[in-house]
Parts: sequence; structure tokens; C-alpha cells
Amino acid sequence: DTEADLKPRPPVVTVMGHVDHGKTSTLDAIRHTGVAAGEAGGITQHIGASVVNIDGRQITFIDTPGHEAFTAMRARGAQVTDVIVLVVAADDGVMPQTIEAINHAKAANVPIVVAVNKIDKPGATPDRVRQELVEYGVIPEEWGGSNMFVDVSAKQRIGIDDLLETILLQADVLELKANPDALASGFVIEANLDKGRGPVATVLVQRGTLKPGDTVVAGTSYGRVRALIDPRGNHAEAARPSDPVEILGLSSVPTAGDEFRVFEDERDARKLAEERALRERLKAQEAKTH
Ligand code: GTP
Ligand code: NA
Ligand code: MG
Repeated sequence: DTEADLKPRPPVVTVMGHVDHGKTSTLDAIRHTGVAAGEAGGITQHIGASVVNIDGRQITFIDTPGHEAFTAMRARGAQVTDVIVLVVAADDGVMPQTIEAINHAKAANVPIVVAVNKIDKPGATPDRVRQELVEYGVIPEEWGGSNMFVDVSAKQRIGIDDLLETILLQADVLELKANPDALASGFVIEANLDKGRGPVATVLVQRGTLKPGDTVVAGTSYGRVRALIDPRGNHAEAARPSDPVEILGLSSVPTAGDEFRVFEDERDARKLAEERALRERLKAQEAKTH
């Protein structure tokens, strides 16, 4: 893409942190939703994408699980994002998955905004959280570092507007751009087999514009996009850079983390997908015989 092809795009923001520190609750406070209360065992078990509009500006949010079992999902969340919001409970402080999230952010070279949550709690010590994070190289701007911190209470909706403003400020620094006028490409953030709808992949578009009727390859899966479903459950006419969207119409269920790409020629798409599938089968056979 030439400089002229590049147009501003919305930030993609992944929310990370230790289990139960309030990632989903913070997103609920932002979206005016109640997702956290409906989760089995109160535990997030998948990556969830949503979109909010703040004064006409879009932010794409990706929620991740904090449970230690879901390291791969957190790594993926860090790889597809522009900004990480690290949620740290002020009554609990820095915990193992807080540190893990910092490491994912560093590996992916993604800036961290810290949301010090649960400041409504009697045992909250937000300054201690700051001190603990300094040890891991996450240093508040007010202490001469490069990380923006915001004290919040997801439960009491304190500091939420401040957090959103801070996220947009951090995004502005990055001057995010992409070419919307190209064959679409991006990443699969999650995928499953739906009883009624068949293979469903939630993808994040990073370049180009994805439309119904496009021919897509995602890993070993391919197909013509039968429908696009936006995060609110509505049919979408197009998904542009930074938009998360569900794709219906794939031949099989791709793997989360797979790249997806639109092809002009359906035969090229099928060929690539089939070659990859064959290679995977051969690899699996080889692994069995050795
Ligand atoms: P996982 O996705 O399972 O890692 O958890 P999470 O980080 O998304 O946390 P979640 O939003 O599920 O919240 C965990 C618990 O903390 C719930 O019982 C929330 O009600 C509570 N909680 C979240 N934010 C706050 C807050 O600001 N104040 C108080 N007092 N409780 C909170
Ligand atoms: Na939880
Ligand atoms: Mg959660």
C-alpha cells in the first residue's frame, strides 16, 4: 500500500489481566451490558469481540479470559491488538496472569494502559498496584514512565469515561491506518461449529473490506461468505479495517489464530485450502508413524 492508500482506522483494544480482576465487568460498564453476570462460574472462557462508539469514534474491544488455562487465547489477543488495557484489581494487586499479560504485551510490542479496578472496595490500594507494576517495567506517566493509569470501579461506574478518553489518547499517538480498498485480510479470533449455521468464524479485518459473496481462505478452510454478522447480531454489508465480524459459509471450522484472506478467484482459494489440508494430513500421519 502507498501512503495515499492508507486511511485512519479505529483502534483494536484487548482487555487482559488476572482472573476475576474485572475485565468483563469493565467492558460491561463501557457497553452498558451485563455479560459478566451471565457467565458460567463467573469465568470468561473465550475471546469476545465487541464494538463501541464514543462521540462518533469506534473502539473495537476484545475480551480475554484471565484463568491460567487460557494462555494461548491471551497470546492471540495480544497479537491482533493495538492497545492492551491491563485490568488489575486494587484489592488484589499484581498476580501471575497480570505478569503474563505484561509479557504478551512486550512480546507483541503493544502499549499498555492500566485500569486499576475495584477502587470502591474497602481494601483497595491503587498506589500499591502502581508500585508493584514498576517492578515489571510498567511505570505510570505521573512517575516519569510511559504508561497511562486510570483508577476505576466497574461496579460503581467510576472512572469509565476517563478510561475511554485515555484509550483514545493512546490510540491517537499510534496514528493507526490501513487500506480499506483492497481484498480483505486479517485473523480468525475464534471459530466454532454452530448446529444451525454450520462453521462460524469470528474474524478481525486488518486490511481491505470484507463483503458477502467474497471468497475467503482461512487456514485449511475456504468458502464464499454467505453472510456477515456484526457483534450486535445484525447482518452487515461490509466489514472494514478493525471491524470484528462473524463469517458464515466456510467449508470447515478454521483454527483460532489462522490468517484469513479474500481471493479473486474461487479456484485459487480452493486449491490453497486443499493443499494446506493435505499437508496437515501428511504431517499428522508422519507424527503417528514415528
Ligand atoms: P475472568 O474473565 O474470569 O478472568 O474474570 P474478569 O476479569 O472478567 O472479572 P469479572 O468481570 O468476571 O468480575 C469478577 C468479579 O469481580 C465479579 O464478581 C464482579 O462483580 C466483581 N467486580 C468486577 N469489578 C468490580 C468493581 O469495580 N468493584 C467490585 N467491588 N467488584 C467488582
Ligand atoms: Na470472572
Ligand atoms: Mg471475564
